[in-house]
Amino acid sequence: MEAVMESEITGWLSVVFRFVHVLAAIMWIGNSILFTWMELNLIIPGPDQEKVDEDLLGHLDMLHGGGVFHLEKRVIKPDRIPVPLHWFMWQSYTTWITGVLLMASTFYVHGAAALVDATKTSLSGWGIIGMSVGGMIGWWLIYDLIWKSRLKEHPRLAVSLSFGLVLLAAYFFNQYFNGRAVFLQTGVMLGTAMSANVYFHIIRNQKKFMASLAAGLPHDMKYGKQAKLRSLHNHYMTFPVLFLMLSGHFPQLTSAARIVPILGVIIFALMLMKYLMNSRYSFKHWLAAIFGTVFLATGSIAALLAAPADTVLGLSDEAAAGRKLFVSQGCAACHQMGAAQIAPNLQGIHQSTQVLVGDIRVKADDAYLRSSIKQPQLQIVKGYAAAMPAYAHLTDAELDQLVAYLKSL
Ligand code: HEC
Repeated sequence: MEAVMESEITGWLSVVFRFVHVLAAIMWIGNSILFTWMELNLIIPGPDQEKVDEDLLGHLDMLHGGGVFHLEKRVIKPDRIPVPLHWFMWQSYTTWITGVLLMASTFYVHGAAALVDATKTSLSGWGIIGMSVGGMIGWWLIYDLIWKSRLKEHPRLAVSLSFGLVLLAAYFFNQYFNGRAVFLQTGVMLGTAMSANVYFHIIRNQKKFMASLAAGLPHDMKYGKQAKLRSLHNHYMTFPVLFLMLSGHFPQLTSAARIVPILGVIIFALMLMKYLMNSRYSFKHWLAAIFGTVFLATGSIAALLAAPADTVLGLSDEAAAGRKLFVSQGCAACHQMGAAQIAPNLQGIHQSTQVLVGDIRVKADDAYLRSSIKQPQLQIVKGYAAAMPAYAHLTDAELDQLVAYLKSL
């Protein structure tokens, strides 16, 4: 009874946290994209133009809501600090706070079983939670160190180093975590660094120059420049982080054998795409280049997926076909290898004893496996909701393939 109550409460909390998390993230990322867009489209007064307004950095007109927003970016005069002045930070903090709560209420509960791949490690509980939290904090410290150091003056080197270290972290987590958790953990690390950028750099620098303005000193653009670099990093992180956060919906990727290189292709391609979108005013072939990037990235991922992973696993042709079906039919989205939170872990299921609702015990022979797939509502495994869809449309041959695959687990 207590366990049921507890799982019901964590279930409800994850609904609330997840929804607020998504809302806040949309607001934050929407802002990030709009502000960068405004920055790029700002009409900057040329040197030959007679400068009537010394403090004008640029202007922009935008049509929306039945009128024109006439926007000016300007240097602030200490005696003319605008009131009210809007700050942007809570979208980011809310996203991070609900994200951490969501991690705790859905992934750190039940001994962090949802993160672990039991075939890779016997670790669970605090060891795994410590790794996940340590990854978030550790990645922020390392990233911050790189971009505070003199490496910052060599952006290409600093970007490559940061990228390499992200992949190294993903490789490390792949030694313990299941595929979906590796994607998520990488996203959580990058997302944490984004929020920390807002808190430790962007807002802090803004506070510094606002404080000196309030003390009557002129507007120091140095602080704004520092804040802007971190804003730009956040901007380029948005696409990869969104993708990683949604990766639970992409089981064909998260269940892949070569998860780390796939992750690398995705992060690189999405950052490049954002860069190409931003270069549209200076680079004529930006759209063709985006299509080219999509084409190359999907091609590389397809190659990574297709390569000989099945032979590595030593599966028969029938089981290998079943493995493909397991992913393409969506089974892998619920039945995650090494995890049993959403649906039973199917590893070692063949010929094992299953306990069904009503404490009925059955042997998981071929017939049981077939009927579990075709008519799952006939026998519900104890401790789970009757949430599995019926796969009545599968042909006998396809069922045979799936069963062959389940037997190989
Ligand atoms: C929407 C989530 C979901 C999807 C998709 C799904 N399942 Fe399930 N599956 C479950 C749940 C939940 C259970 C446990 C409840 C039950 O017995 O119906 C289950 C039970 C099973 C069982 C019995 C497990 C046991 O421990 O006795 C088998 C076998 C199985 N699924 C195979 C599959 C296969 C194969 C596919 C794809 C063709 C698939 N499932 C797709 C959620 C899912």
